[in-house]
Amino acid sequence: LITLTIDNISINVDDDTTVAAAILNLGISAFRKSVGGESRGPLCGMGICFECRVTIDGVPHQRSCNKFVTEGMKVVTGE
Ligand code: FES
Repeated sequence: LITLTIDNISINVDDDTTVAAAILNLGISAFRKSVGGESRGPLCGMGICFECRVTIDGVPHQRSCNKFVTEGMKVVTGE
């Protein structure tokens, strides 16, 4: 198992889990905010739509659907 934090919540997931799946498993559907302030979440699931972007280890706008979790990763949603 891999331990990471999502919005300061510590969780354990399998090492073959994408960041998007880990976020959804926590019940979070608003991954980010649009320019107009609307909540956005994964749409394509394969790296094309950019709707699943989150901040990972301080780097903003990372596509969570095509990144696997790593030990100690820190994910922030809703930005
Ligand atoms: S869900 Fe479309 S790029 Fe991630």
